[in-house]
Amino acid sequence: MGKAKYRLTNLATSKSSDLDVLSGTIGPDVVDIGSLWHDHGVFTYDPGFMSTASTESRITYIDGDAGVLLYRGYPIEQLAAQSNFLEVSYLLLKGELPSAAKLDSFTRSITRHTMLNQSLLRLYGGFHHNAHPMAMVAAIIASLAAFYHDTTNITDDRHREIFSHRIIAKIPTIAAAAYKHALGQPFVYPRNDLDYCSNMLHMFFAVPCEPYVVDPLHAKALDLLFILHADHEQNASTSTVRLAGSTGCNPYAAISAGVSALWGPAHGGANEAVLDMLEKIGDVSHVPDFLARVKDKAAGARLMGFGHRVYKNFDPRAKLIREMCHKVLAKLGQTENPLFELALKLEEIALKDEYFISRKLYPNVDFYSGIIYRALGIPRPLFTVMFAIARSAGWVAQWQEMISDPTLKIARPRQLYTGPVLRDYVPVKKR
Ligand code: ACO
Repeated sequence: MGKAKYRLTNLATSKSSDLDVLSGTIGPDVVDIGSLWHDHGVFTYDPGFMSTASTESRITYIDGDAGVLLYRGYPIEQLAAQSNFLEVSYLLLKGELPSAAKLDSFTRSITRHTMLNQSLLRLYGGFHHNAHPMAMVAAIIASLAAFYHDTTNITDDRHREIFSHRIIAKIPTIAAAAYKHALGQPFVYPRNDLDYCSNMLHMFFAVPCEPYVVDPLHAKALDLLFILHADHEQNASTSTVRLAGSTGCNPYAAISAGVSALWGPAHGGANEAVLDMLEKIGDVSHVPDFLARVKDKAAGARLMGFGHRVYKNFDPRAKLIREMCHKVLAKLGQTENPLFELALKLEEIALKDEYFISRKLYPNVDFYSGIIYRALGIPRPLFTVMFAIARSAGWVAQWQEMISDPTLKIARPRQLYTGPVLRDYVPVKKR
């Protein structure tokens, strides 16, 4: 740490400062500008955080040019092929892969926290039947703060641990209850004999009047999608969780803030938007017209599921999901899936187009995920909820890392003010 320096000079006054350069274990160095305001009386300006590292972290590493994604050092491809979502959640939270005994104990703890307080379930009744499930999920997670007071002392390790397990355990139950509310069907209680994803599918699709058998292929496909979505360093929703959490707020409220940030179409909401887009395009013959509109800035259309702030070569998650699409659709007997074929063709045409090549725009994690969700029978409004369930592991790991850092400061950015200068109030009669 601190080996190199950057010299910053105010050319008007010739005042200079030597700024420390900090090096991580891999990835670009960062210039420590913390003293800039004190020494020079200026702020830095970086809307959208194009060049700003907001924190130090040991959890997830992305090399956007090489298409590399590591969770605690392990490549996403290896985890996708050999691990499962709960083991990955443990890895994100604890930093190391668990022994068999530790994984067993973690899995048991998650399984034992899946139920919701009965009063909490009554809150769903206040939502209109057509409320978007993300609105319900964000609200119910925030409401957990009103029910689970035994986990809100954020300085207590055990409180933090129970909170983390509760979030990962309860978010599928919360999502399933939202779905059942929208359908007008009775809530289905979690089943502790099922694995994480099978239990979730059971809560979504079972009804009390007949047995429901979870298809292991569906559960496996979901588990893989969850591994791929589990964390992604300081993305918008994770940064939201960290920013809210840095105030010392109730941790459930911080996670709820993350759910809300994830909902936007530029972030996790893209998976829903991709399917809308594919359906609107309708047929391969319409792709050239659609891409012409995307390239015409005045039309304001984007190729949803394409582009990423960090990946400028390929998104390794998109590659894995595309491969899985082939497998899942083949196993489900949907080899001729028109939306998947359209998406493949759209990708092929876009990747040969100068507009996308010059801007380094490639399919991201959301380009193909909706096609799998749809094939598994997950309704479209739940796509982003599925993302939230998976990302809950990353959110709690990142929140834990932040709260346990003794140097934690409230996240409080500054601004470049361009509004009116000081002026006197004019009473309404004189305006
Ligand atoms: N379609 C068409 N043009 C695009 C797209 C796209 N999907 N994405 C970026 N561009 C263009 C921009 O218009 C801009 O062009 P310009 O230089 O001529 O002005 C250039 O590429 C750079 O784009 P920015 O918006 O500046 O890139 P940024 O890093 O801020 O945005 C983002 C990244 C939000 C992901 C963007 O690519 C996008 O909107 N993609 C579509 C939505 C999407 O799929 N989001 C999911 C992202 S993954 C995730 O969050 C899980």
